[in-house]
Amino acid sequence: MHLLALLCAWFLLLLIIVFFGLVIASTSVQALWMVPFVPTPKAIIDGMVEFAELKPHQIVFDLGAGDGRILLAAEKREPTIHATGYEGAIGVWLLSKLRMRMRRSKVQMICKDFMHEDFSKADVIFTYLSIASMKKLKPKFDAQLKDGAMVVTHAFRVPDMEPDRERMVTMPFGRGSRIYRYVWRKKS
Ligand SMILES: C[S@@+](CC[C@H](N)C(=O)[O-])C[C@H]1O[C@@H](n2cnc3c(N)ncnc32)[C@H](O)[C@@H]1O
Repeated sequence: MHLLALLCAWFLLLLIIVFFGLVIASTSVQALWMVPFVPTPKAIIDGMVEFAELKPHQIVFDLGAGDGRILLAAEKREPTIHATGYEGAIGVWLLSKLRMRMRRSKVQMICKDFMHEDFSKADVIFTYLSIASMKKLKPKFDAQLKDGAMVVTHAFRVPDMEPDRERMVTMPFGRGSRIYRYVWRKKS
């Protein structure tokens, strides 16, 4: 009995250490990128997915995907898409994996800094990041995105580029947020 209580105490301690380890690891990368996990509300997700005008079998990314909610909504709208979310904070990424499993989703969630990835195959990219991240992503998008690729962003614009669609989404209690859609054109 005494041994069992001791084992339980050790197990509990281990769980607490793992939990706080994940929280510290997640908040440190988010502090480095200066982008915390702030989930996009449903009304805004609906607007973003509508802006994306998803077509069968398209390749879709969410950069800084959080718990994967935007890609889940996109997959619900167009179940044949090939969706991949990049989330660098390990605790949030684990949460997204759990969500995908519970929803039996085909969305792939990768725990990685998306800045080192290649997006040349992307048809649609979703983002909800920061002014600084959009500034870093712009030259990457210019170099990699194919003609007609779309970037749909929540709150933060792509610098030095005019969106082809833009909308203010209002929510209860007077809150609201802007969403933007950009279409990349390859200069010939
Ligand atoms: C504001 S949250 C948005 C989450 C989700 N896209 C949504 O709209 O609900 C941004 C997320 O991006 C992640 N993130 C920021 N920069 C990143 C990077 N370079 N690589 C991977 N993840 C990043 C953060 O950890 C954070 O969870």
